[in-house]
Amino acid sequence: MDIQVLPLPAEKMKQKAQDETKLSFGRQFTDRMLLVEWKADQGWCDARIQPYAPFVLDPSCLVFHYAQEIFEGLKAYKWADGRIALFRPEMNARRFNQSADRLCMPDVPEELFLGGIEKLLSLEKEWIPGAPGTSLYIRPAMIAVEPVLGVKPSSHYYFFVILSPVGAYYSAGFNPVSIMVEDHYVRAVPGGTGEAKTGGNYASSLKGALEAKNKGYDQVLWLDGREQRYVEEVGSMNMFFVYGDTIVTAAMNGSILSGITRDSILKLAVSLGYRAEERSIEINELMDDIRGGKVTEAFGSGTAAVVSPVGKLCFKDEVVHLSGGTVGAITQKLYDTLTGIQTGKIKDEFGWVRFV
Ligand code: COI
Repeated sequence: MDIQVLPLPAEKMKQKAQDETKLSFGRQFTDRMLLVEWKADQGWCDARIQPYAPFVLDPSCLVFHYAQEIFEGLKAYKWADGRIALFRPEMNARRFNQSADRLCMPDVPEELFLGGIEKLLSLEKEWIPGAPGTSLYIRPAMIAVEPVLGVKPSSHYYFFVILSPVGAYYSAGFNPVSIMVEDHYVRAVPGGTGEAKTGGNYASSLKGALEAKNKGYDQVLWLDGREQRYVEEVGSMNMFFVYGDTIVTAAMNGSILSGITRDSILKLAVSLGYRAEERSIEINELMDDIRGGKVTEAFGSGTAAVVSPVGKLCFKDEVVHLSGGTVGAITQKLYDTLTGIQTGKIKDEFGWVRFV
């Protein structure tokens, strides 16, 4: 599909951050965005790259009332030789369409998803930061824009992509975060939308996250929605627990997001000589294993979070510490290897990198 490039007037061009090492997460956006529409009688149409600008939408649009929305997150890296690298972007394209299917939205052809991102990046490449730990975060999303109050799948959608130069997701940077296990609210239920990357999952997590923050914790670890017994995920990341030389994460069960970083960590760990297990993790057993010293480290994984060490966990008012409050050796190794492949410092044996 042809993507039209609209002119960027000089007055719409923005100032880039003076000091890349101070970039936070998702507060600044580049000059241009991709916008493609889908109409029931035309399919995908009007693909354009235009100056970054607010949408003017009818207040009755379906997305505002019934949350028919999905999104993705991936990153572009500037390599030392000047090349621009994406990390497993076809996995994002695939997951986007799985989310679309769950939310009754149209499939975005992979060549439109990836081709649109690559064309936008080639115009915005000056925005990719180069300082260690920085990247250009890519946020594709789709929203239902039909103006109607009846609950139904929309007949009109916007698929759009915006770009944001970012540093670490957590203000702590690559330092241990603290996590509270949520034993009241739930994030997802069997048969629900937990596996889809849809805004509603994040909106429903806010209350628990706020209460945890008020108690001094950075994040919430969600348990399963049926029995509140089994570890699921942290919303912004999948969780891993390190037992000696084995990394353990919750098995996919329909309500956990199928993280691309999660999958990469599982494969990397095996290639580095560790063992990797996907299984159910019962919270009381996990607490016993932490108390008894069997769990030596814990970390989360995600596109935004990368690999984030966890230093403290609280469940039902009991606080346990992990990795002596520092970054564990296996966590560090996985972080270094993953980011090394993403930024071209370590050879990509997996064929994960795609150049723009
Ligand atoms: C990502 O890691 O890309 C996400 O979409 C998580 C979000 C909470 C920033």
